[in-house]
Order: sequence, then C-alpha cells, then structure tokens
Amino acid sequence: MPQMNNEIKNEIKKRRTFAIISHPDAGKTTLTEKFLLYGGAINTAGSVKGKATSKHAVSDWMEIEKERGISVTSSVLQFNYDGYCINILDTPGHQDFSEDTYRTLMAADSAVMVIDASKGVEAQTRKLFKVCTMRHIPIFTFINKMDREAMDTFELLDDIEQELGIATCPVNWPIGSGKNFKGVYDRAEKEVELFSDTKKGTTQGEVRKVKFNDPEIAWLIEDSQRVQLEEEMELQDGAGAEFDQELVSRGELSPVFFGSALTNFGVETFLQHFLKMTSSPLPRNADKGEIDPMEEPDFSAFVFKIQANMNKAHRDRIAFMRICSGEFEAGMEVYHMQGGRKVRLSQPQQMMASERKIIDKAYGGDIIGVFDPGIFSIGDTLTTSAKRFAYEGIPTFAPEHFARVRQVDTMKRKQFIKGISQIAQEGAIQIFQEYNTGMEEIIVGVVGVLQFDVLKYRLENEYNVEIRMDSLPYEYIRWIENEDIDMAKLTGTSDMKKVKDLRDRPLLLFVNEWSIRMTQERNEGLVLSEFGR
Ligand code: G4P
Repeated sequence: MPQMNNEIKNEIKKRRTFAIISHPDAGKTTLTEKFLLYGGAINTAGSVKGKATSKHAVSDWMEIEKERGISVTSSVLQFNYDGYCINILDTPGHQDFSEDTYRTLMAADSAVMVIDASKGVEAQTRKLFKVCTMRHIPIFTFINKMDREAMDTFELLDDIEQELGIATCPVNWPIGSGKNFKGVYDRAEKEVELFSDTKKGTTQGEVRKVKFNDPEIAWLIEDSQRVQLEEEMELQDGAGAEFDQELVSRGELSPVFFGSALTNFGVETFLQHFLKMTSSPLPRNADKGEIDPMEEPDFSAFVFKIQANMNKAHRDRIAFMRICSGEFEAGMEVYHMQGGRKVRLSQPQQMMASERKIIDKAYGGDIIGVFDPGIFSIGDTLTTSAKRFAYEGIPTFAPEHFARVRQVDTMKRKQFIKGISQIAQEGAIQIFQEYNTGMEEIIVGVVGVLQFDVLKYRLENEYNVEIRMDSLPYEYIRWIENEDIDMAKLTGTSDMKKVKDLRDRPLLLFVNEWSIRMTQERNEGLVLSEFGR
C-alpha cells in the first residue's frame, strides 16, 4: 500500500469545510463577508453581497435569480486564517431552495447556523437542519443582530432546543440587546467582551475584554444589567448542558455564540472557537468500509452538484466534487467508478471570494469544479486508489411539488425528452412516469417551486422547447423499499398515484399524510421511505 505523504496529511489537517445555513435575511452573507475579511480574501466588506449582479454571474437562467434578488445556486469560497484553510459552502437562503441546498450539506463536515436574534428559528432553518441531523455533523449556532432588540436569551435557546431537537451550550452570553447591548460574557474566561461598532466593515478597531471581577466593570455596565447577568448565569449553570466536545462532534450539542455581524462584533471570537471545536475532514462511508483521509493516501472524491450552462456560448457543464482524500493535481487521470473507466479531470476551478480561478492542486476537504462532458451524475465516485471503492450515494430528497409537463409543439418531442432528461440528470428536478405507461406523460417533482420556472426557462432557452405545466395536488412522495412488490395488487386511497422514477423504481404520490397512513394500513408489510437511495 502506498505511504501517506506527510505534506498531504498536513494540508488535509488544516482544512475546515463547513456549510452556512440560515433563513433569508438572518445575516448569512454579512457573516460570510466578515469571515473573508479576516482571511484577507477580500479587502472591503460588501464584495460578496453584490455577487448576484456582478460580472461573474454567468449563466442566463440565473437571470431568474437576479430578477428576484435571490440566490438559487450555491457557491464555495476558500480562504486562509490562522493556519487553517477554510472552505465555506454557501447554501441558497431563499425558501424556494432546491435539492442542491440539501446536497451541499452532504459535502460539508460541519454546519454554521445563523439565527436572527429577534426572530429565533425560522422555517428554512428547520428544513436544512433535518439534513444536518441525518448526517450527525456538528452544528454551531451564531445568534446575530444583537445590536437590535432581541428575544430573551433563554427563549432563544429554548426555541432552538424545541424546534430542532438539539441541546445547546452557550459559549458566551449577551448583556442586553439593541440600544442597551453592552457585549458578551465569555463563560469559560469569565470576562466581558465589550460591544463596540468601531470594527464595522474592517478588521481594525477596538476590541476590549475586561474580567468580570475587575472593579472597572462597575463603570462599564449598569448595576441592573450586572445583576441580571449574574442571575442568568446562575440559572444557566444550574440547568443548561455543559460543553462536551464529544457531543458537539456527534451533532448532539450545539455551541451557541452571540454577536452582530454587521458591526463585526463577536465574529472573530466565533471564528476562533469554531475552528478549534470543529474537525478536519472526516472519514466517509464507502462500499469497502470507511475511508479515512488520514489513512487513505490516494485521491478520492464524490460529485455532489452539477451545474449546466455556466457559460451559454460553450454549453458547458461543471461537476462540483468534494475531495475526500489525497491530493488532486490538474489534468490528473482518475477512475470513474460509475462510468467504469478512466477519465482526465480538466479545467479544475475553485471559487475565491467572488472570483473563479483555475487551480493546480487541491486536497482532501476542498471542493473543486471540473469540466463535465456529460458523463457524471450526482453521487459518483472518482479515485486513483487501486481499491476502487464507491462512496455511499447521496440520497434523493423527496420533492414536495409536482406538475404534469408536456411540450406545446408535438414535433419537438425529441428535444423535449433530451432537455428534460439532461436537466433531471443534473439533479435540478426529478422526473417520474405513470407506472403503466411509457414516456407519454411526464411528471416533474421539485423541492422548491422556483425550480419549475427554472425548468421552463431552460427548456425554452437551451433546448428551444416550449412547455405546458399543469400542477398536480400531490405533496408527498414515498419510495417503496420492498424488493418484490406487486404494484398491480397494491391498494391505496383513490387520490394516490403510482409512478416510477428514471431507474424504474416504484413510488407513490400522496395528497396528504392521512393517505399515506391508510395505504400502509391496507397493505401489510409495505415499507415506504422518504429518501430514495
Ligand atoms: P442573508 O444573507 O442571510 O439573507 O442576510 P444578509 O447578510 O444579506 O443580511 C440581511 C440584512 O440584515 C441586511 O440589511 C444586513 O445589513 C442586515 N444585517 C446583517 N447582520 C446584521 C447585524 O448584525 N445587525 C443589524 N442591525 N443588521 C444586520 P439590508 O438592509 O437588507 O441590506 P443592506 O442594504 O444593509 O446591505
């Protein structure tokens, strides 16, 4: 077995790859921007914000996101800080997010959840959170906008625990909020980091920390706030969970930090703690057992996202992959497990702040995009290892909106099938057929309704096919796990629909949860699943 090169090992050890999740407007972009500022990747705050309208927003169908002022696609940013090499996977924050958002979380080793202190846990956060818990990855919470009136601290923590079902452990504790925001109390150091907005937009500015037992505190914080803090700490120490790195690593306890991204308060403190508490690239499951980046010397990666037409003139497709082990070199030849042959990975690129750049080398933990001649699918494994293993597939997430789709001009059937199949292969939509008929009727399922608009736009602009879409009332889809199911004999409710996916797997569409329960009652032994594997 080839030896693991120390240089590669050290490169991987410095990697921290995480996703940022939040409800729109909670401050994810602002926080990301401040992280980049500390890493020296950008010079002025504000460079990330304009990304949807800046020159690198290359594809035309991204016009849709420009028009609506949202981000549909996820991006990856890399920067260095304090000896670490950090990869941030940005997930679209709009409620019309797509399956891509879920898949992005499959490529991360941990997640940072940004919460608006005046709002608590919101719908979007809840959905994304489910995927994090499914993977048992560490989750860190940054409660933002403390410079504005906030909810009660206990209420906020309670909200996270109740809504998301995870224990919390505040690393620091806010003293007041809004106009009365005095700063945060560091529970381990027993000191107060005094609020100042002098760092707004820059890394320079005043950071003042004063020990809580220092007499000067009496001058800095009003009596009533000091007393309140003491009382709150007593309560928290008595009833709250203690910090436990083991539980954090297993995703069962979320360390919580308070701050204000806009004024750059508490951001660096958060970054420093977070980098220590999170881990370097983790082992991943494959068909030949667990692959540990600290032991596997060869390059391996899996595809988690495919993006077409980044540049319309070239009709190109980029496959984004997460490197899990070893070193990547531009132009290297790797074995594509699912394709069963060797391929050369060309035009590797990485996102640096808002710039796309061509890279020569990358390591386990990094995310790269390579040119895809149309051979890759979501979940595919690439490796130079002689062991030839395949990473565990990425689950298909259940769509929640369905529509029957057909082409307006019947002469364009061929282009229609080609276009819709390619878009489905990229994972932007899922397509299903009636169980007993052929390709006549196509049912499209999406996670967010915005994907319907993207589909229509892309079919018209890239494949020159106009389509008609009739929405269907189904909201739930279930894969049938039983291997030997006789679909003809399966009896459900009258509004249930039997369909199959591209791989001919049988599925059921339901209008409501009651129908699912009835169908299960009527068919003994029927095993239904929310994720397609
Ligand atoms: P998102 O990516 O999660 O959607 O949120 P984003 O960072 O774009 O922030 C949403 C709004 O909240 C922005 O204001 C931003 O300036 C503001 N914001 C972010 N962090 C803080 C904070 O710590 N305190 C306060 N008071 N506001 C914060 P906007 O008016 O929508 O945009 P802009 O015109 O200020 O850029």
